[in-house]
Amino acid sequence: MSEDDRLRWEQRYQSLPPLRADETGLPASFRPFADLMPCSGTALELACGRGTAAVWLAQHGLTVHAYDVSCAAVEAARALAASAGCLQRCHITVADLDDGLPPGDAVDVLLCNMFRAPARYEAMVDRVARGGLLAVSVLSEVDAAPGRYRAPAGELTRAFADLDVIAAGEGDGQAWLLGRR
Ligand SMILES: C[S@@+](CC[C@H](N)C(=O)[O-])C[C@H]1O[C@@H](n2cnc3c(N)ncnc32)[C@H](O)[C@@H]1O
Repeated sequence: MSEDDRLRWEQRYQSLPPLRADETGLPASFRPFADLMPCSGTALELACGRGTAAVWLAQHGLTVHAYDVSCAAVEAARALAASAGCLQRCHITVADLDDGLPPGDAVDVLLCNMFRAPARYEAMVDRVARGGLLAVSVLSEVDAAPGRYRAPAGELTRAFADLDVIAAGEGDGQAWLLGRR
């Protein structure tokens, strides 16, 4: 990512107040499917921001590896994991995903919420273990003006057509998909 873009994320996260320990949870699109999340195994979160979902997955019983390009976001995510008492199960690291997915074993849950990286879609599917879940959401051009960060209509259902799609939606400028490999 460009240095300007990285600094924009840093400034944004530096300006936010700390999270409380109870401010964890799945992103809204996936909350209705929380019961499908396994209570053990491994999870990978891409572009985890301040870690609200990563820490929820760890509280749920998963060992989580989470990545974000922003140092401030990663610090906040680690602080949230510590205050929620699950730092041991949360491994949160600074990484620029433009360089590819960090190496690792196949995971039981892969979450990528509000970070669009079409060049990584294939690698994301490959990283999910057979029977594992992939949850992805992006900004969409559907019901919104086109923009360089927005997915054209149908992008997720095309990209993840090989998964068993549990649920998917598109509208109001967002697209999301939950599938099982
Ligand atoms: C809209 S936020 C979403 C954060 C989080 N997933 C959530 O739902 O709250 C997008 C996130 O992507 C991260 N990001 C943007 N480009 C990135 C890159 N190339 N590599 C890693 N993280 C990136 C930003 O730092 C930011 O935390």
